[in-house]
Amino acid sequence: MSMIAMTVNGAPVNREVNDSTLLVEFLREHLGLTGTHVGCDTTQCGCCVVHLDGVSVKSCTVLAAQAAGRSVTTIEGLADGNELHPVQTAFREHHGLQCGYCTPGMIMAGAELIATYDGVLDEHVVREEMEGNLCRCTGYHNIVRAILAAAEEIKGPDAVVQPALAHAPVSAPNRGAA
Ligand code: FES
Ligand code: FES
Repeated sequence: MSMIAMTVNGAPVNREVNDSTLLVEFLREHLGLTGTHVGCDTTQCGCCVVHLDGVSVKSCTVLAAQAAGRSVTTIEGLADGNELHPVQTAFREHHGLQCGYCTPGMIMAGAELIATYDGVLDEHVVREEMEGNLCRCTGYHNIVRAILAAAEEIKGPDAVVQPALAHAPVSAPNRGAA
């Protein structure tokens, strides 16, 4: 057991945890932040993506102890009070979710993607970069549409290079791997 301290959604937290405690377990079971989901045990689905010092990580592949002294943002911390983050708003307006299970990870990964590319995105880049996030409802078309819309909202119309959406399938993992 070790005592660890970190900042979660802007607030300092400290807890005693087993050395083997995963960050996702810490968030869900120690802090009650159940918006971060677990959708697999193979580091493939991306349902568990959070931001660690502003970078997307799959929190099922990070030990809680590895986050000690660092800043974690979860889906619960993305909105500004009652004002949703533009990516959250875009998912709602563009129907970027069906059952919603993958949605927290999709939104966290999408928000970091927009920041990483300074909002300059096209459909191809979004599909490539989001391949580490899987949607079992296969709602990829509207998920991509929502991320592009959020990029435009955040950065303006020039940000989205090719807003026209094709229906190309999305492949598999890896963005967000720790
Ligand atoms: S729970 Fe599936 S990648 Fe983390
Ligand atoms: S909306 Fe159901 S898993 Fe993506």
